[in-house]
Amino acid sequence: MKKIMSVGAVVLMFVLCGGLSSFRPASAEVETCVKCHEKTSPGQVADWKASQHFKEEVTCVDCHGGEHKNEKDVKLVSFPDESTCGECHEDQFNQFAKGKHNFGWTSLNAMPITHVEPDELMEGGKGCGGCHNMGIKTEAQKKEQLAKGYRYQNNSCDECHTRHTFSKKEAKDPRACQQCHMGYDHPQWEMWSSSKHGTRWFAKESGRLPESASAPTCQECHLPEGTHENKTAWGFLGVRLPLPKDPQWAADQVSILKALGVLNPETGKPTARLDAVKAVDLARLTEEAWQKERVKMVATCKKCHSESYARTQLEMGDSMMQKADRLMGQGINEIAALYKDKILVKPDNYSFAYPDLLFFMRTGGGKLEQASYIEQVLFKMYMKHRMRTYQGVFHANPDYTYWYGWAQMTKDLTEIKDLAKTMRATHKAVK
Ligand code: HEC
Ligand code: HEC
Ligand code: HEC
Ligand code: HEC
Ligand code: HEC
Ligand code: HEC
Ligand code: HEC
Ligand code: HEC
Repeated sequence: MKKIMSVGAVVLMFVLCGGLSSFRPASAEVETCVKCHEKTSPGQVADWKASQHFKEEVTCVDCHGGEHKNEKDVKLVSFPDESTCGECHEDQFNQFAKGKHNFGWTSLNAMPITHVEPDELMEGGKGCGGCHNMGIKTEAQKKEQLAKGYRYQNNSCDECHTRHTFSKKEAKDPRACQQCHMGYDHPQWEMWSSSKHGTRWFAKESGRLPESASAPTCQECHLPEGTHENKTAWGFLGVRLPLPKDPQWAADQVSILKALGVLNPETGKPTARLDAVKAVDLARLTEEAWQKERVKMVATCKKCHSESYARTQLEMGDSMMQKADRLMGQGINEIAALYKDKILVKPDNYSFAYPDLLFFMRTGGGKLEQASYIEQVLFKMYMKHRMRTYQGVFHANPDYTYWYGWAQMTKDLTEIKDLAKTMRATHKAVK
């Protein structure tokens, strides 16, 4: 009874103190952490000592609690999530919560592919999870992660302000975005750094342009005025509602929505996956939501360009999307016809006998005999080459738009058509 009382009193004290943040630890307690960690992990202590937090007396105990006291009780350490930072940085926390980064982990887990891949790549953060470790995790998500034996990756704020320096200057540098916004399906780093915008920034960096010269960074366009809320009009998948007015473009976007599994390929009606898309804000679903982001972007370009120049550039991005979708639509329908004619057979992990872009490379869910090469070409056409085509225009990069994007899409479509022809001929011969 006594024991329960005293636990209750401690909890009450804690609540009255308003949680960890306003609980100012005795400096002797912090001294112990620092003294020992100066030996066990000196790099971390040095980083902390170089931070703004050190000057403001924000300590190890504020973020990790005071329960672990020696090498034997390391399990008692607590790892701060975004809400711990939010206790002192409410504005940044609230903005972050409204932006797309807050959906990184949830959108990853909404993908069927995620659940057929090794845990090391997900909870362990060595693949998809290394970049999608973004967003405030629910208690259930944390439990699931712990149950799989992974106790790190609880904080998104340290993705741009790395620990334990937690520096503002570091996060303002476009290289803070590079680890994630690069590579296969979203090479924004490569596109920006080799565009005129990036070139100017590097020229400034090395003193070849005056410090006051204008050169937009990722942050200036996507986190303007220091906001932590990030979102774009088209989003990653390059689909939106309402459908475009042009009937052919609308039809092509419908083919893409079917291949994303959000429209039933037989009835054209929304599937349960549409709810998952809504839940993670994967696409703008009203004209107003789309225009809101576009207007913000034009206002940013206008700081250095004429409005007419800016609008012309952005509208070219939209019409490149339309042209890319014409190629995509043809590719999808070519493969859909193979399913219809039973030349391709529905893999067990698919809901429909129709190409499913959200399984990425994993047609057949790992069953090699069910995997189809032709569908992998379609996957590459969508994820790699269509992305590069429209992202390249928006990031003012001619080479990505043409050679790595549009040119490859035309090649993919030729390959799909050729493969389909051969598959039909073989099918007929075997029959
Ligand atoms: C007597 C030495 C000692 C003291 C005092 C100490 N630690 Fe540690 N701490 C360790 C050792 C040893 C580890 C394990 C390091 C390893 O895994 O290599 C550790 C690990 C940690 C970890 C990482 C846990 C993990 O799972 O990776 C954190 C965070 C931490 N300590 C914070 C603190 C804080 C905060 C304090 C003060 C309240 C503190 N330490 C006091 C020795 C100490
Ligand atoms: C402003 C908050 C904050 C402060 C102050 C802080 N940490 Fe951390 N620390 C973090 C975050 C965030 C992580 C990463 C958590 C995760 O991966 O889930 C972390 C992780 C760690 C780890 C384990 C991961 C690794 O890279 O080894 C150790 C050890 C650690 N901290 C030690 C310390 C020590 C010692 C101090 C004091 C000198 C300290 N921390 C002060 C926020 C803080
Ligand atoms: C106990 C309160 C407290 C906690 C918890 C805390 N901070 Fe801070 N932080 C401060 C104070 C005070 C400053 C200095 C004033 C300011 O810039 O707001 C600061 C400054 C910063 C800065 C600006 C540093 C610079 O270079 O100017 C960043 C970035 C930051 N904190 C990130 C974080 C992150 C990320 C976490 C969680 C891992 C965190 N803080 C947790 C109090 C806190
Ligand atoms: C190198 C880092 C990185 C890796 C690895 C990675 N992603 Fe991503 N992912 C991103 C970034 C960055 C975006 C946003 C890109 C954009 O909008 O152009 C994104 C976007 C997405 C989206 C769309 C989210 C939305 O709402 O717009 C999904 C779904 C997704 N990734 C799933 C995955 C899966 C599944 C894997 C592993 C097979 C994976 N990602 C691997 C960085 C990564
Ligand atoms: C996508 C990268 C990114 C992430 C993730 C991120 N920040 Fe920031 N943060 C920035 C940038 C960029 C700035 C500089 C803003 C500016 O121009 O003043 C900044 C500035 C800050 C500042 C300093 C504000 C000031 O004006 O002095 C704090 C505090 C801060 N962030 C806290 C956080 C917290 C808390 C989180 C997690 C909820 C977080 N950040 C996550 C990019 C990021
Ligand atoms: C740790 C990896 C990581 C870092 C670092 C990172 N991002 Fe992201 N970013 C992502 C992921 C993952 C997504 C997709 C989130 C989702 O699934 O909803 C994303 C989405 C975005 C989007 C939204 C695109 C859309 O769908 O509308 C923008 C804009 C963005 N990031 C900009 C930035 C900028 C600018 C920086 C650097 C200051 C940055 N990011 C740093 C991983 C990262
Ligand atoms: C000059 C402004 C500008 C700069 C600089 C810039 N972007 Fe973008 N970004 C855009 C525009 C415009 C779009 C398309 C917006 C839309 O959907 O209408 C976009 C779209 C995005 C998207 C969503 C998917 C896509 O690519 O279309 C992400 C993610 C992104 N940018 C990340 C970055 C990163 C990371 C950097 C820096 C390496 C960066 N951007 C630099 C203007 C910029
Ligand atoms: C901070 C200032 C700044 C912002 C913001 C900015 N730009 Fe630029 N932009 C420049 C400068 C400077 C150049 C180089 C002009 C030159 O080539 O002589 C440039 C060049 C360009 C180019 C031409 C590239 C080439 O190779 O000729 C395009 C296209 C462009 N910007 C589009 C945009 C769009 C679209 C936006 C908004 C999404 C935008 N810019 C935002 C400063 C800016």
